[in-house]
Amino acid sequence: MRTLKLSRAFTLIEPGPVVLVTTRDRGRDNVMTISWTMVVDFTPVFAITTGAWNHSYAALRRTRECVLAIPTVDLLDTVVGIGTCSGADTDKFARFGLTPRRGRVVAAPLIAECVANVECRVIDMVKRHDIVVLQGVAAHVDPRRRERRTIHAIGDGTFVVDGRRLDRRKAMASKLPTGL
Ligand SMILES: Cc1cc2nc3c(=O)[nH]c(=O)nc-3n(C[C@H](O)[C@H](O)[C@H](O)COP(=O)(O)O)c2cc1C
Repeated sequence: MRTLKLSRAFTLIEPGPVVLVTTRDRGRDNVMTISWTMVVDFTPVFAITTGAWNHSYAALRRTRECVLAIPTVDLLDTVVGIGTCSGADTDKFARFGLTPRRGRVVAAPLIAECVANVECRVIDMVKRHDIVVLQGVAAHVDPRRRERRTIHAIGDGTFVVDGRRLDRRKAMASKLPTGL
């Protein structure tokens, strides 16, 4: 994984891909699937929707850290598998053959098989709406990965995959952060 400028990390989440959220609590790695995500600001700040019904939630609350890992379409069945079993009774890194890698800042692992990883700190938990707010603190990309198309959940068990990239950078210049 190569370091990605933190100021670019929001561009990984803005397209709305399904993400994997890793945690490390009391010496055990875990990972869950999340499709309800949002970019909150460029620094970057993100929000995810999850709550106490997931094993990961206790880890997020206790450690105040996680990694947002971005899977590509070749990992679709793994992503669905991760999101349909629980770390309460399953070592998902072993079960799905995921390779944990050390990050730079947080103890939660990066996933080597993912195209990008963003290390995050939990900065707020909005209980009323089950929203967890995350500050990105370091970002990494795998520039050698050939498959780079991310997965987007419809919400009914079907998914769409990235298509063509369309360039409107000139028209949007007034709304883009400088140097992006
Ligand atoms: C495609 C997909 C998307 C999901 N999105 C979310 C989500 O946005 N929020 C959430 O709380 N759970 C979501 N889930 C469910 C969790 O990933 C699932 O409950 C998982 O088993 C939690 O793992 P854990 O108990 O180890 O934390 C999703 C599952 C799948 C398959």
